[in-house]
Amino acid sequence: PGEARRLAGSASSLDELRTILDRYDGCGLKFRATQLVFADGNPAARIMLIGEAPGAEEDRQGKPFVGRSGQLLDRMLNAIGLDRSSVYIANTVPWRPPGNRAPTPEEMELCLPFLHRQVELVAPQLVMTLGGSAMQTIFRTTSGIIKMRGRWQTVSIGAHQVEAVPTLHPAYLLRNPAAKQQAWRDLLSLRMKMEAMGLS
Ligand code: URA
Repeated sequence: PGEARRLAGSASSLDELRTILDRYDGCGLKFRATQLVFADGNPAARIMLIGEAPGAEEDRQGKPFVGRSGQLLDRMLNAIGLDRSSVYIANTVPWRPPGNRAPTPEEMELCLPFLHRQVELVAPQLVMTLGGSAMQTIFRTTSGIIKMRGRWQTVSIGAHQVEAVPTLHPAYLLRNPAAKQQAWRDLLSLRMKMEAMGLS
């Protein structure tokens, strides 16, 4: 992580960070993935979403949330008047874990300096994390997502302080459609925050 921190810190733009990450050999996930899945959306957006890890379709296309979860995510965003031109989307790890397993804590830790730098460079005003892994990484907690979702907190992500809220992962919602009600509440609270901050 020391090497990752030094490398990430040396990037002064998102393009530089992407190039540096693409060359970084410190995380084993890279060698079994097709390509780097860096980010999607608008780098000037005030809202940033953080997911877990690329899946098969993301690995193929090199873009986050383009598979089935991504299609649901797009619908969730549309429901509160957002789309990929008004948000920026990244993952806790930028390479697909083999067989779509969850990234290990070690893999997430190794990639974290790059995510931190990405957040610093985008400097969003609101962050929404998707699912348990992203929540535990960003909120530095071992609590469960069911308990934590919907609770806003001010967090430091790298050197950037920002208000953030965890919600359920779209892949979880595909498996548990009844939980969509809870995600809907979280989306509404994001919408309300935006309005309170004059971001709409
Ligand atoms: N799930 C994630 O967490 N991220 C993606 O990019 C795709 C699916």
